[in-house]
Amino acid sequence: MSETTIPTESAGAEPTEPEPTVTRPGPAEPGPAEPSPAGAALADEAAALDAADPLRAKRDAFTLDDTIYLDGNSLGALPRAVPPRLADVVAREWGRLRIRSWDESGWWTAPERIGDRVGRLLGAAPGQVVVGDSTSVNVFKAVVAAVRIAQERGAHRDQILVDESTFPTDGYIAESAARMTGCTVRPVAAGDVPTAVGSRTAVALVNHVDYRTGRLHDLPGTTAAVHAAGALVVWDVCHSAGALPVGLDAHGVDLAVGCTYKYLNGGPGAPAYLYVARAHQPRFDSPLPGWNSHADPFGMASAYTPADGAVRGRVGTPDILSMLALEAALEVWDDVTIEDVRAKSLALTDFFLRCVEDHVPAGRVRSITPAAHAERGSQVALRCAEAGEVMAELVRRGVVGDFRRPDVLRFGFTPLYTGFAEVERAARVLADVLEEG
Ligand SMILES: Cc1ncc(COP(=O)(O)O)c(C=O)c1O
Repeated sequence: MSETTIPTESAGAEPTEPEPTVTRPGPAEPGPAEPSPAGAALADEAAALDAADPLRAKRDAFTLDDTIYLDGNSLGALPRAVPPRLADVVAREWGRLRIRSWDESGWWTAPERIGDRVGRLLGAAPGQVVVGDSTSVNVFKAVVAAVRIAQERGAHRDQILVDESTFPTDGYIAESAARMTGCTVRPVAAGDVPTAVGSRTAVALVNHVDYRTGRLHDLPGTTAAVHAAGALVVWDVCHSAGALPVGLDAHGVDLAVGCTYKYLNGGPGAPAYLYVARAHQPRFDSPLPGWNSHADPFGMASAYTPADGAVRGRVGTPDILSMLALEAALEVWDDVTIEDVRAKSLALTDFFLRCVEDHVPAGRVRSITPAAHAERGSQVALRCAEAGEVMAELVRRGVVGDFRRPDVLRFGFTPLYTGFAEVERAARVLADVLEEG
C-alpha cells in the first residue's frame, strides 16, 4: 500500500502554534459531500481490504456497536470474555471461596502469571514482567532502581535523561526520583538520546511511541547507544504494547513499564506492568519494597529480604478484580501474532491518511504523525483549527477519537477490532464536519 502524501510536519513537532486554517474554500452549500470517483474507489478498496483481513473475525471478540471507535489508544474496547469471567470471580471465587481463592483460584500468583502473558506480547521471556500498580508507580520503581544500579557502576552517574515530549507523568516522577537519588533531570528529544547520553548518565527514560504525535522512537538503536555509554534505559511502552513488536529481550532493554488499558484492552484503570530484565533482577533494589515483594511474605519478618525474580517488582496486595479482568481480556491474543497486528496497523494508518487526503478539503488538517512506517505507531494525529469543537462534532456523529490541546485530533487504530470501511467512513465524516464548518 502506498504511503500518503498528506502534509506531514517535521519530527516531534510540538502542536503549540496555530495552523493556517482554510487554504481552499469549502463547498458553497453546507452538507455532506458526494464521494468523488476517487472517494468511491476508496470505499471499494476498503471493502476488499476488510474481506482479505486475517484479523477480521477478531472484532466479534469485542463488545462494539455502530460507533466508529478510534480511541483504543486511550481506552480499549471491552472484550466479550471479560463480563462472564468477572461475574465468576465475584460470585464464586470471592462470593463462595472467599479467602481460599488466594491459593485455590490462583489470586496470589496472578501478577506474575499475567505478567508472562503480557511479556509474550512484548518479546519478554517468562519471569521478567509483573503486573500491578499504575504506570506512574512503575515508572518510579523502574527509574529509582535503574539509577541505583547505574550508581553501583559509578557514583558520578548523576543525570537522568528524559524524553522531552514525554507523557507528563513520566517527567514528574523522574524529577522526584532525581531528587531522591542525588541526580538532575536533563530533558532531551527522544531522537537525541543516543548523542546526549554520556559518562554522567545514569538512566534514560524514553517513550517508545509519543502519545501525542504517534511517532515511534528507535528502541534498538537508542538502547544500544545508552548501553555503550554505560547507562541503563527505561522504556515506556504504553503506546506500543499490543500495537507493534517491542522486542524487549531481543534488544537488551533494561527495564520497561506500560499500561494495559489501551491496546491490551484491560479496562479502565487496569493494572500496569513492570519489566525487569533477568540480568538486572538480582540488583533490582525497589524503592517501594512492600511485603508482596518479600522472599517470605507470610513470615511477617521485620527485616526486608527481597524475593527473587520479577516478584521483586511487586508492592502490596494486587487489585484482583482488575487484574483478572485483564487476564480474561488477554485471551483474544492467544491465536494472534503481534507481527500480524503490526501489518494491519500500518495498513490502517496508511489507508486513513490516504482517505483524509482524498476526502478532506486541502489545508484543513496537517498530519504530525510520521509518514515513514519505521517511525509510526498505531495512531494518526492531525493538527486542525478548532480541534476541540471538531472532535466533539465527530463524536456526536459516531466517530470517536480524542482531542489533545491545543489543536490535535488523535485517532487510534486497534487492529483487533478496527476495519478499513470504518476508517474510510471516519475520514468522510471528518471531511463533512470540516466542510460544514
Ligand atoms: C505514555 C504514557 N505513560 C504513562 C501514562 C500514565 O499511566 P497511569 O495513569 O497508568 O499511571 C500514560 C497514560 O495514558 C501514557 O500514555
